[in-house]
Amino acid sequence: MKAGMEQSRLPIGIFDSGVGGLTVVHAVRDLLPNEELLYLGDTARVPYGTKSPASVQRYATHAADYLVGQGIKLLVVACNTASALALDELRQRLAPVPVIGVVQPGAAAAVNRSSSQRHLVLATESTTSQLAYTRAILQLDPDAVIEELPCSLFVALAEEGWNTGPIADAVAGQYLAGIRERSDVERPDVAILGCTHFPLLLGPIGNALGPGIEIVDSATTAASAVREELTASGLAAPEDANGGIRLIATDGAARFARIGSAFLGCEFAADDIELTDIHPADTGQT
Ligand code: DGL
Repeated sequence: MKAGMEQSRLPIGIFDSGVGGLTVVHAVRDLLPNEELLYLGDTARVPYGTKSPASVQRYATHAADYLVGQGIKLLVVACNTASALALDELRQRLAPVPVIGVVQPGAAAAVNRSSSQRHLVLATESTTSQLAYTRAILQLDPDAVIEELPCSLFVALAEEGWNTGPIADAVAGQYLAGIRERSDVERPDVAILGCTHFPLLLGPIGNALGPGIEIVDSATTAASAVREELTASGLAAPEDANGGIRLIATDGAARFARIGSAFLGCEFAADDIELTDIHPADTGQT
C-alpha cells in the first residue's frame, strides 16, 4: 500500500548499541540526502555483542519502541548483533512500519564480490553464535563455504578510538593469524565486517588478513535496501525536503561525540546529542 505525503516526511529511525551504527547513518545520508534521520545509540547498554539473546532482544525492543514513539516511517537496525538476534521479532512488533536489518545486505554484498565462494565473517560473539550470516549467504549461494569468527575485542578498540597502531595490529594479528597462514586454496576471498564498529579497524584487519581477501561491510548495501524499500512503499521524502540528522544517546554525550565523529565522518559536539532513557519503566512504555 502506498503511503501518504505526511508519512513520507517522517524521519527514518536508525539504532545501534552505541556509536557504530553511525557508519550506516553516513551511508544512508550519502545516498538519500533529503531524508530526515533519527539515530539512537544505546550507549548505556553497549556492548550488545557479549550479551545473551534474551537481553539483546529486550534492548532492541526498547530501542525500536522508543523510535516508533518518536514517529518514524521506517526502522533500520544498524546493529549486526540485534539484526541477528531480534529482526523477526521487531518486524512482527512494528508492522506495518518496515524494518531493515544489516545482515542480509552484508551477505548480498559478499556474495556479489566472491569468486571462490569462500567467505569469512568477522562479528561479535553473539552474532557468530546465531550463524545469521551463514544462513543469509547460503540462501543466496547454497554452495558457499562460510566461516564465522568472533572478534568482540574490536568493538572495545573502536569505542576507545584505538583504530590504528600497535595494539590494534596486535589484536587483529592474534584473531586472524589462522586465516593468514592458510594455503591460497583454503583462504576466503571475501571477509565481511559483520559488526558496525569494525569498518574503523579496516587498516589493521586488512594487514592481518593479507592480500587477496576483499573486505566488505553492510553499510552501503543497507543504505541501498533502505532506498528500495522507501521507493516500493511510496515513503521516500519529497524532493523539496532538506534532510538532516537528529542524534540521541542513552548515556555519555561527551564520549558519544568524541568517538562518534569518526564513525559519522564529520565532527559534532556533545551539545548536538540528546540524552534519553529508553527503559520502559522510565518512558511509560510497556
Ligand atoms: N553494534 C554491534 C554490532 O554491530 C557491535 C557492538 C556491540 O557489541 O554492541 O554487532
